[in-house]
Amino acid sequence: MQTIDIIILAAGKGTRMQSKLPKVLHSLAGEPLLSHVLGAAKTVHNAKTIVVTGFGAEQVESTIGNAADVFVTQPEQLGTGHAVQCALPHVRENSKVLILYGDVPLIAPQTISKMLDTVTDNQMGLLTVTLDNPSGYGRIIRDTDDNISAIIEQKDATKDQLRVNEVNTGVMALNSQQLMSWLPQIDNNNAQGEYYLTDLIAIARAASIRVQSIQPNSPSEVEGVNNRVQLSQLERAYQRDKAKQLMESGTSLADPERFDQRGELTVGTDNFIDINCIFEGDVTLGSNVHIGPNCQIINSTIGDGVEIKANTIIEDSVVGDNAILGPFARLRPGTELADNTKIGNFVETKKAKVGKGSKINHLSYVGDAELGAGVNVGAGTITCNYDGANKFKTTIGDNSFVGSNSTLVAPVKVADNSFVGAGSTITKDTEENSLAISRAKQRNIEGWQRPTKKN
Ligand code: UD1
Ligand code: CA
Repeated sequence: MQTIDIIILAAGKGTRMQSKLPKVLHSLAGEPLLSHVLGAAKTVHNAKTIVVTGFGAEQVESTIGNAADVFVTQPEQLGTGHAVQCALPHVRENSKVLILYGDVPLIAPQTISKMLDTVTDNQMGLLTVTLDNPSGYGRIIRDTDDNISAIIEQKDATKDQLRVNEVNTGVMALNSQQLMSWLPQIDNNNAQGEYYLTDLIAIARAASIRVQSIQPNSPSEVEGVNNRVQLSQLERAYQRDKAKQLMESGTSLADPERFDQRGELTVGTDNFIDINCIFEGDVTLGSNVHIGPNCQIINSTIGDGVEIKANTIIEDSVVGDNAILGPFARLRPGTELADNTKIGNFVETKKAKVGKGSKINHLSYVGDAELGAGVNVGAGTITCNYDGANKFKTTIGDNSFVGSNSTLVAPVKVADNSFVGAGSTITKDTEENSLAISRAKQRNIEGWQRPTKKN
């Protein structure tokens, strides 16, 4: 078995991005462009990934870290051929080598595998695509037998060659021995004074090595990002694809053009997702989940039959079956809701375990808290979990009822089956089957004179 080495060119500054950030670190679906390419490369079993950096090399390396096996720096950008030359010391003998680009993020694993399959002792692979407007790309030149004989860059092409619609995507695959012996033959006698990787094709031809062309399933696979307009177009292509996969697997989307997935989304069936929802990180939805408009769900697991109403934000949380959330609820990290719970509008939870069937319906903050089953937390209840230095826990037992506008000063326990009178400030543990009330007694002052306006 031959080893597989994948070289990813990522040295460019990306001048047209108008940015201080290296181009390959700009985000698509919440991840750097380069991470997408590495993700596709990693689908090849045991492949070694070699990233060629240049502009912002340190920043690229520290951001990408272990996701790549090797980083090499190309000190000066002398062309794509020179960039690959810089990677050569890390290429193994008797490897299949695939060359990818850090700014071409949507290359598909299937295309990568087809490219590697083309490589034999007397054949290499080249990924080409036919475009209505081939302007700017290197043109694929074929002989009378339709075999590829050369790639001619736009700036070096004749009028006839410019009329060719089949273009070079830049992606190629070949044996490492050939790459090692051919690269030194490339010179920079061309319109741009660069070492063109594309010159390998004519060299292969001269060595009687056949160049087998492969086409991608979709043109977006080979589209590069040169500016922010192209970045936004590829982002939509990616999102449209994710939306399509979701719909095909049994989830309805109100509008696939207004759907954003930035990570892994795992779903059951018969879910409905309204417009402008964003899913980030690892999100799992059960079945029969209904999500209203403008919700953001981050690294969370949502059970079956859950209803998430408009403008709800859920982060690092677990939601049990048939819960009803929102509108305008905010579940912060560490929220764990059991089945049949209700978290209503303007309720914020954080590190809060809420037992089965419990309700926090309006305008509350519940943090560092553990609530039993069947609890009712009245409107405006606040767990005072922080004394300015440390955090403390509030416990509320099964079937207890906390009256509206209560403050529970932690550490404190509200016992099972107990009542807290509305407007109380609870600083001591309460007792089972009792009412805890701590508020000034009401006085009704007879004959009270209303203030009058002074002149
Ligand atoms: C290249 C191809 C062209 C193809 C096109 C597809 C060559 C000579 N031409 O042209 O046939 O149609 O891609 O998009 O290969 N890079 C480096 N170091 C360098 C030069 C480039 O890392 O010294 C990287 C760039 O960051 C970029 C990629 O290689 O990601 C392509 O380089 P670029 O100069 O944009 O090539 P094109 O002129 O577009
Ligand atoms: Ca160029």
